[in-house]
Parts: sequence; structure tokens; C-alpha cells
Amino acid sequence: MVKQAPGVRIDGLTVVYKTTAGELPAVRGVSLELRPGTITGIVGESGSGKSTLALSLLNAVQPPGRISAGSVEIDGLGNVADFTGEKLRKARGRHIGYVFQAAQNSLNPLKTVGKQLLDLGRSHEIEDLRGLVRDAKELLARMGLDGARVLDSHQHELSGGMRQRVGIMLALVLNAHVVVLDEPTTALDMITQSNILKIVREVHAERGLTTMVITHDIGVVAEVADRLAVMYGGRLVEQGPTREVLGNPQHPYTQGLIRAIPRLVGDIDEARALPGRPPTLATVPKQGCVFRERCELRMDVCDSEDPAALAHGSRIVACHAVTVKEHA
Ligand SMILES: Nc1ncnc2c1ncn2[C@@H]1O[C@H](COP(=O)(O)OP(=O)(O)O)[C@@H](O)[C@H]1O
Ligand code: SF4
Ligand SMILES: [Mg+2]
Repeated sequence: MVKQAPGVRIDGLTVVYKTTAGELPAVRGVSLELRPGTITGIVGESGSGKSTLALSLLNAVQPPGRISAGSVEIDGLGNVADFTGEKLRKARGRHIGYVFQAAQNSLNPLKTVGKQLLDLGRSHEIEDLRGLVRDAKELLARMGLDGARVLDSHQHELSGGMRQRVGIMLALVLNAHVVVLDEPTTALDMITQSNILKIVREVHAERGLTTMVITHDIGVVAEVADRLAVMYGGRLVEQGPTREVLGNPQHPYTQGLIRAIPRLVGDIDEARALPGRPPTLATVPKQGCVFRERCELRMDVCDSEDPAALAHGSRIVACHAVTVKEHA
């Protein structure tokens, strides 16, 4: 039975962390739609705000952080940014499945995986716990693991890659229809990574999910995402259909990311690392374009005005140069 996949609309989302220099935004003015039944990939270097965005989808940003503006509307559920207490607890896991970054370290070291699975089921008032265990074993088997053995194991008996697959199983097993995977395959080698993503894609299609996959590796999402959103310094700088974004990137940052990946460039000698480093919370420019320190196309206006995210056909791009090109 395939339920209708829900849409998710993130609108004007800003998330700040309190620092010695005051509250600084890690995510600023982000608007993004996860269309029903699609996989959206979020890419960007470390520190760009991807995990903070993922946590916001579950209203799980912890102090010293908080959502300071915007909303996260999930069809059939409401604005998660307004949820608190029991309502929020129930939404997590049951309606929104998730694997947080470093999921390989997030299991309880004192309990077997099976015991943690049962705890999860009970906390969500699942009546058919046998069915839950069966589903868990099946998911683990699909990911190349011996389900019964894994459920009998403690965290320390599993490798990083196995724990990561356990994390993915826990995100999917309650049959949530919005699934958020934050760096789900970073502990895996390339071949396993690719297999796991294929399985994520299959389960996504079978169950009618709306999925967000976050990664710092644009090659990873190229394989799995229908749409791509590129983050830099807390801003979404470009979004659109994966093939178009990869085939004809518009934003200078997206162009730089793609040039740096031999697999996408097709020739190892042609690949060029993007020079410079991404900003930290303290160094993100307060006005103007967040990417300007590393941008070859920087103009005067880039120092004073934050480029608005504008639609260019099926693409949304936030760059003064892209607008200039269009009007020239
Ligand atoms: N708990 C926190 N307190 C202060 N700053 C934080 C905290 N968590 C993340 N940050 C900062 O917010 C920015 C975005 O972090 P994060 O969302 O983890 O990015 P990404 O997942 O893209 O690497 C970074 O500059 C990071 O240092
Ligand atoms: S707005 Fe200016 S600095 Fe920013 S990416 Fe575009 S051209 Fe570069
Ligand atoms: Mg992260």
C-alpha cells in the first residue's frame, strides 16, 4: 500500500546559534520545497548549515540554537516549527524519519539494537512489535546485513558502516513518509555507498516517500536526488532539477563544486579544487553575498547587496551575475 507522499514547504527559515558575539545565523532566509514523492539533495561544504537545516525539519535544533524565523509546513501535519512536547515527539520517527549526522555513534551502547528497536516501537505505540522486527530484519537484509544477528548485537560489536545502516533502518522502519538523511553514507566505501543509496531510492519509490538527503559530496547526491539545493554560508544559493544543476550550473559556487569532482568532470586532470575555505558563523559576511570572498565574478554590488533568490526557468539562483547576464 503506497500512501500519498507529503509535500514539505520550508519558508523563510532562519536558525541562529548564540555565541560570544551574539546570536549568529547558521541558516538564513532559506525557502525550499520538497515536492511530494521526490528526493531532494542538499549539498555544500562543511559548515554551510546543512545539518542545522535537517534538524529544523524535526524542530530539533538544540540550545544554544533556535529557529528565529520562518516555517516548515508538512502536508497533513502542519508547521513543525510550532510543535512542542508530546506532539513533537510523536511527529519525530512516526511522521518524519531521520538519520542524524554521525548516526554511527548515536546508538545506546548499553542495549542491543533489537532492544532499542522495541523501545522505539513502544514509544510510538506500535501494536504489532513482531511486524516491526520483521520489517527491521528485512531492511537490514536488503542492505546486506544479517538482520537477526544485528538485532542481537550491541553497538561496539558493529562496524561504523554497519551502524550507519542500522541508522538508516531506524529512520525507515516506522514507515514515516518524510525522511531526512544527514550524511547517511559517509562511513561507507564507494561501492557500499552506492548500493545503500540504491536501496534508499528503491524504498523511497515503493513507499511513496518525500526524502531529503544531505551530503558534502555532490557525487553522492548526483546518483540519487531528483532535485538539488546548494548551500553556502547558511544561504541556499542554487536549486533545481539535479540534471540541470549538474549539467549547467549557474551559481559560481555550484560551478566550483562541480569542477572539483573528477567523477563529474570525467577527467581527473581537469578537476580543480575550489580555492579558499567556507566561512564560519563568525566570518559569514553580514551584508552582501556570502560567497564573495571566493568568487571570481565579484562586483561592487556583491559587497553591499545580498543577492535575492530568483527563479530562472526551472532554477532558483541567488547571484547578481546571473541576473546581469540575463538582462544584458
Ligand atoms: N551547537 C552549535 N553552537 C554554535 N554553533 C554551531 C552549533 N552547531 C553548528 N554550529 C555552527 O553553525 C554552522 C553550520 O553548521 P552545520 O549546520 O553543522 O553545517 P554542515 O552540516 O553544513 O556542516 C557552522 O558554522 C557551525 O560551526
Ligand atoms: S552575487 Fe556576486 S559574489 Fe556572489 S556569487 Fe554572484 S557574482 Fe559572485
Ligand atoms: Mg553536517
